[in-house]
Amino acid sequence: MTTQEKTTFATAFEKEVYEGLTAFPKYLSSKFFYDKKGDKLFQEIMAMPEYYLTGCEYDIIDSHKEEFASIFSADNGFDLIELGAGDGKKTKLLLAHFMQHNVNFSYKPIDISADVLAELKESVNDTWPELDIQTQQGTYVEVLDNISTFNKRKKIIMLLGSNIGNLTHDLAVDFLKNIQEAMREGDILFMGLDQKKEPERILSAYKDSKGITEAFNKNLLKRINRELDANFDLDAFTHWPTYNPETGTTKSFLVSQKEQLVNIKSLNLEIHLQAWESIHTEISQKYDDSIVYWLAKEAGLQVTDQFADENGYFKDYLFEKASS
Ligand code: AVI
Repeated sequence: MTTQEKTTFATAFEKEVYEGLTAFPKYLSSKFFYDKKGDKLFQEIMAMPEYYLTGCEYDIIDSHKEEFASIFSADNGFDLIELGAGDGKKTKLLLAHFMQHNVNFSYKPIDISADVLAELKESVNDTWPELDIQTQQGTYVEVLDNISTFNKRKKIIMLLGSNIGNLTHDLAVDFLKNIQEAMREGDILFMGLDQKKEPERILSAYKDSKGITEAFNKNLLKRINRELDANFDLDAFTHWPTYNPETGTTKSFLVSQKEQLVNIKSLNLEIHLQAWESIHTEISQKYDDSIVYWLAKEAGLQVTDQFADENGYFKDYLFEKASS
């Protein structure tokens, strides 16, 4: 229920919160999870035993780093461009190996969070003062234009952690098409994608026993309270992840435990929630080879290699531009 139709918004956050909470069914975008507190909670999630994704991808990179060094290397070196770099824990395995073997490369991490980038740059500078690192803050889409201008040498565009899984297939294809357009012959897209597996294992990665993922999900309401002067009562919502093995889609919801009114002052908006009404907050897509090959084809890319952890829970794929 809206108190007044609002048509102008100061920020994308305002606009998207307004649109999502006045829609039926209600939704909010997971891209807004990542404020300072959200960044911290996501780092805690990555360290949880239930969140197998990080450990699996760490193992893949650790066991194939020599191979990656030889696949990435080119006569005049390469630029390692990482989208959504985060704390760079897995990438640092590669950086350490490359530095130790005098590989000629530069590291260009890109992240939406300036805080995360500042921390990453500081730790990289401390460990490898001679490493050429240039950080860039922005959303993937904003920085893709810029990436296409890095054309002096081979580009390795890296997107780890199944980050693309937070996009619907349509948006993922659009995004991959943009990457494809920024690539030249010889450039490589290196992408980590969480695989379909035992449903219970997937689900427990999103409903950990300590409630960290619940806090991460609810942090979005906290952010709306703080930034948009709202009065969400976090205790009146249940964190509810689901996994559909047919589509491979994990969806997270916040479910209203009672009928309630929420006032969002900055948006001049009063939201009415029925008892047990949901707000959809995130999708985390799980893949198999057929989905990955389909995505690649739609985007004008082709898979050239793939690497799995020992259980086949997670895979890192290499793509290049499809030959036309
Ligand atoms: C960043 N992204 C790939 C994570 C995921 O698994 O979808 C975010 C996350 N959400 C809940 N736990 C972790």
